[in-house]
Formats: sequence, C-alpha cells, structure tokens
Amino acid sequence: MAKKLTLDTKYLDGFISSEDLGKTSSDLERAHAYLTERKGPGNEFLGWMDLPEEIDENTVLRIEKAAADLNKISDAIVVIGIGGSYLGARATIDTLVPEAINEKIFFAGYNLSGDYMHRLLDKLKDRDVSIIVISKSGTTTEPAIAFRVVKNFLEEKYGSDGLRNRIVCVTDREKGALRNIADKEGYTSFDISDDIGGRYSVLTPVGLLPMACAGIDIRDLISGAKEQRKDSLDCDLDTNISYKYAAVRNILYHKGKRIEILSSFDNNLHYIDEWWKQLFGESEGKGGRSIFPASCDFSTDLHSMGQLIQQGERDLFETFLIIETAGNRCEIPHDEDNLDNLNYLAGKQIDYVNRKAHEATAEAHFEGGVPNLTVFLPEKSAFSLGCLFYFFEKAAGISGHMFKTNPFDQPGVEAYKQKMFRLLGKPGS
Ligand code: PA5
Repeated sequence: MAKKLTLDTKYLDGFISSEDLGKTSSDLERAHAYLTERKGPGNEFLGWMDLPEEIDENTVLRIEKAAADLNKISDAIVVIGIGGSYLGARATIDTLVPEAINEKIFFAGYNLSGDYMHRLLDKLKDRDVSIIVISKSGTTTEPAIAFRVVKNFLEEKYGSDGLRNRIVCVTDREKGALRNIADKEGYTSFDISDDIGGRYSVLTPVGLLPMACAGIDIRDLISGAKEQRKDSLDCDLDTNISYKYAAVRNILYHKGKRIEILSSFDNNLHYIDEWWKQLFGESEGKGGRSIFPASCDFSTDLHSMGQLIQQGERDLFETFLIIETAGNRCEIPHDEDNLDNLNYLAGKQIDYVNRKAHEATAEAHFEGGVPNLTVFLPEKSAFSLGCLFYFFEKAAGISGHMFKTNPFDQPGVEAYKQKMFRLLGKPGS
C-alpha cells in the first residue's frame, strides 16, 4: 500500500508544550462533535467529509467518459471557474502534469483581465477547443463573463450545433444561470451536491473532471483521500495529524502567531498553496479572528522573503510541504576545472540539495523565533495529493470550529460584489 502523510513537529519545541496540547482537548472534542454529530454551525455543508467513501463508480465512470470524449475532439480544453471551482484542479494538474498547462489545459474565468482573455483567444484560434465551465452558484461574474466570451468564440468556429458536444457544465443540480443554460442547450452536465461548498469540492466533478482531462488517475486521488479519512476519525493526536495540525495552529494563534506561511520546496506546488489559502482564509477569517494564510515558494523566496522570516516581526509560524520522492531526477555533473567550486556536490541529485535546503531553513527559522511544522508527502502522485487535500480539509473544518466560527460559509465575499454590481449598474443592485 502507498505510504501516507507524516507531520514533523520537532521545531515546535519550546513554543508549544504537551500541556498546551492537552488544554486544547475540550475545544477539539467540541469541534469534533460538531462535525461528526452534524450539529455545529454550517452542518448543512458536511458532504465533503464522507465523500471519498461515498463517491460512486457511476460518477467516476461518467467523469472518465466525459474526459475521454473531450480529449477525442480537442487539443485545447478551457477550464472556466474561480476560487474553489478551479484551484483544486489547477493545483493537482500543476503538481502532476505541469506540461499540460497552457499546452492542453487552459484556465479562464479566475480574473477580470481583458488582456489575459485576448491573449488566450489568440492562442486558441488554430486549435480544436472545448470548454469545461464550473460554478456551483452558476452566477459568479468572473466565470460567467469568461464563459460568454469563450462560448461566443467557439460558436464562430463551430456553429451552435457543433458547439454542443464541446461544452461540459459543472454546477448546482437545480438552481442558477449555468444550470438553466446547460438544460436549455442540452450540454453534458455534472451536479455539485448541495452539501459541499466550493473550497471543499476538489473531490467532486469540480476537481476530478479537469484532472481526468489532463490524464491524472482520479481513482488514485480518491483512494488517497479515503486512506487519510480513515486516520482522522477520532481525537487521538498521536495518530490524527489533521487534528494535531489544527490544534497546533490554534495554540500558536493564541500565543500571538497570527500569520502562517505555507512553503513548498517545489515550484510546481505553488497552486497547492493557493488552494490551501482559500480553504483556510475563507473557513477561519470571520468575527474579527484569523490566521493570515500566506505562502512562499522555496528556495526561490528564501532570496526575497527569507530575511523577513528570519528577523522580522515574530508573529509568524511556518508549515513546509515536502515531497519525499520528488519525481524526475537531475544529477550535478563533475567538472574538471571546478571553477565554480561545486565539485563537492558532483554526483549528487539536485533534490538532495533541496532536501538539505529544507532542513537548514527549518532549523534556522526555528532558531530565529519562527516555530515550524513539516508535512511530508511520500511521493509526487495523485494518491499523495488525495491524502493532502483530505488532511487539510479536515483540519480546516476542525480549526474553524475551534475558532468558534462557521467554517463553511463566506458571507464577507459578498461585500465587494454588491458594490461592484452597483458601480456596473446591474439591474436590481
Ligand atoms: O468556497 C466558496 O464557496 C467560494 O469561494 C467559491 O469557490 C467561489 O466564490 C466560486 O463560486 P462558484 O463556484 O459559485 O462560482
């Protein structure tokens, strides 16, 4: 069986004691009961908890078939969505098949840049293009505009009949403009269950369909999430690393550590950090309390942010994401002249140096007053990412409840929208 995630907490020594951890038990147990007994705020959005077990063969087969059908007729697939409706797929594809991004899989609808859209359409003009449009509400402005623009572009290319098998919608079963469009035009569609919010939807067709189009083994991803779920069913902090992570964050917050930096020593994990930021930012940031979720790409950002982390304001803690077996390898060659004085590394893998960079960074930042944890992923695989997604989702649910907030809503996101709609003159705004 594939190996699972591990959590290294040695660099919390002196910042968190076993008594501190013990003191979180009542909060942790309350949060656990809120989730498992489905009695806490937001309990109507707990569909993600058993999803890895409950996702049925029929849905997986439908996703695989839709992906195969799209791949057959297209060499470019535009995935349209924002927030939880794109970050999980983007993160997984960037990590496992980064070469597919902007070669075969293009993302749109996550910004409002006319320049971006113009350049995208330009790249697509000589390609065979299909669209996957994803929006749970079916009314979000950014993806709605992108869908209208790209659909119009496809209509000119293929005509409205030729368009039909090139569009797949992922949206609510009944409500929203996208559901109406899908039903009226007869597009293939997938439902997002009512009880799963956007940022917890990576293991639904929202994440799985674009991943399958990129050739990722979605069954392996689901298996990873299933395994991780089994390890997070009780409050034992020795075995349930999701809860341990949530408890540690909560203690550090109460000790004045108000910013968490998630850093991976692999630039392809950049979008995992982005997915994580949304998950924790939207799940915890309410009621005047929050841990600000920031991220860095190391070792790149050690040369820009490293100084601040080492010696700036001591309100930080860090979580490192490390892949133990990093995929393709590249050896540092021997050089007769050794003018760069690197022969002491000749014959070593670049990833070996990277691991040492992580070890050195964790120790240096700890000594500089920044407590840190490391999540180890055994390998760069769909299984490992399935474990990671579930690990963080469960931790975010628990952590939100430990903060005495509803981890599953995001009322604050509406504020800018209302003002923007008024500025744009939207009818009824
Ligand atoms: O977590 C959430 O629910 C949100 O951040 C959404 O993911 C995001 O706003 C996109 O929403 P929708 O899928 O409805 O277009």
